[in-house]
Amino acid sequence: MSNRTLIRGGLVITAADETHADVLIEDGRIAALAAHGSTAAESWSADRTIDATGKYVIPGGVDAHTHMELPFGGTFASDTFETGTRAAAWGGTTTIVDFAVQTQGQGLREGLDAWYAKADGNCAIDYGFHMILSDVNESSLKEMDLLVEEGVTSFKLFMAYPGVFYSDDGQILRAMQRGTSNGGLIMMHAENGIAIDVLVEQALARGETDPRYHGEVRKVLLEAEATHRAIQLARVAGAPLYVVHVSAEEAVAELATARDKGLPVFGETCPQYLFLSTDNLAEPDFEGAKYVCSTPLRPREHQAALWRGLRTNDLQVVSTDHCPFCFTGQKDLGRGDFSKIPNGLPGVENRMDLLHQAVLDGHISRRRWIEIACASPARMFGLYPKKGTIAPGADADVVVYDPGASQTLSAQTHHMNVDYSAYEGKRITGQVETVLSRGEVVIDQREFTGRAGHGVYTPRSTCQYLN
Ligand code: URP
Ligand code: ZN
Ligand code: ZN
Ligand code: ZN
Repeated sequence: MSNRTLIRGGLVITAADETHADVLIEDGRIAALAAHGSTAAESWSADRTIDATGKYVIPGGVDAHTHMELPFGGTFASDTFETGTRAAAWGGTTTIVDFAVQTQGQGLREGLDAWYAKADGNCAIDYGFHMILSDVNESSLKEMDLLVEEGVTSFKLFMAYPGVFYSDDGQILRAMQRGTSNGGLIMMHAENGIAIDVLVEQALARGETDPRYHGEVRKVLLEAEATHRAIQLARVAGAPLYVVHVSAEEAVAELATARDKGLPVFGETCPQYLFLSTDNLAEPDFEGAKYVCSTPLRPREHQAALWRGLRTNDLQVVSTDHCPFCFTGQKDLGRGDFSKIPNGLPGVENRMDLLHQAVLDGHISRRRWIEIACASPARMFGLYPKKGTIAPGADADVVVYDPGASQTLSAQTHHMNVDYSAYEGKRITGQVETVLSRGEVVIDQREFTGRAGHGVYTPRSTCQYLN
């Protein structure tokens, strides 16, 4: 027995088009689109009809950078796969790509299996995995090939966090060379962590212990330098490169220079760099700890370059780097020593709304909103057109979005398992109304109707910008 849902009367927005169309969903997939009021659309019948008059009908968001339950700085990111994916659904995101972790001395298989186990049966929306490489050696390089075959087609390396996730330039080069041969995409955390650790030690010795010094020691120059070095290493390896959480104007410039040479270099930024700044890090009474993440928040002047990069396609993706730690009991670990504040911000629920606000503020167009939040991350990480668009055959991951609704972002009303909002009090025009994941309504007119275990592991093909 087939199950048909019809979404009627909305403005369907994809990265390519905006059309007043009705959307027919059958057995979890988009079956057809037809102009609203057309004979074809009028002839459709369904078990359920959703009235989207005056609303946008957009693809579910694809958040390609989350860290549910990440072990970090002696604690764990406070959202589990269950709470984090539910919050994602509330915010109109229907796919996450989270980071499985290889710890030092461990194999990739062991690390990845642990992440499959954490997520299995707990997710409200679909999910895939990238793999963090913390120990590049002969055997982990071989294991990369196997992971690509099973749909884990991207690998994050760190030029930061010596002694934890850090890889040296030789390890980075080897991993890139392996990616060249097996099709895996290298994702880089580009900050010179060796130099940063010297500056951290010197700052603490001077008694500079407040959260704002986190931003001062993690210098723009050390992000730009690492971005440049990563690009050159990728060129030597003949490998493509994806730079995560780009925060600084000078780093965008490195990407733009490489792209203008025609190199396959890509970049991601995150809402926190577009909407927050070092002013937040400097908030008194340790409140700045709420904004400690790496790369760090930058002076407000950097935001214009990030928006420009998103418009010119020197940056392709906005993901959240969702990595929440509660202010009480977790961020607290760094009172008296900013270097002990667990790094990361909550945001998986806020991304689609913040970027819709950016449309209204004139930074990006509606179609670019959908491109950077849905289509481009899906293409970058081998999920397109199953995810990231509304087209016949695609998974029916669809959001009915009310562009005129008003909301105020707040920890009082959000669904992320964290005791503060990085955007507390921010007013947004636009709100998610209804969300479908593979045809199943998981948010119904702002009621959660989904369930843990609906979301399934989604293997990915290799980067679709390269062929
Ligand atoms: O501060 C951050 N970004 N925490 C998560 C780990 C990472 O580097 O992405
Ligand atoms: Zn990172
Ligand atoms: Zn350019
Ligand atoms: Zn991250």
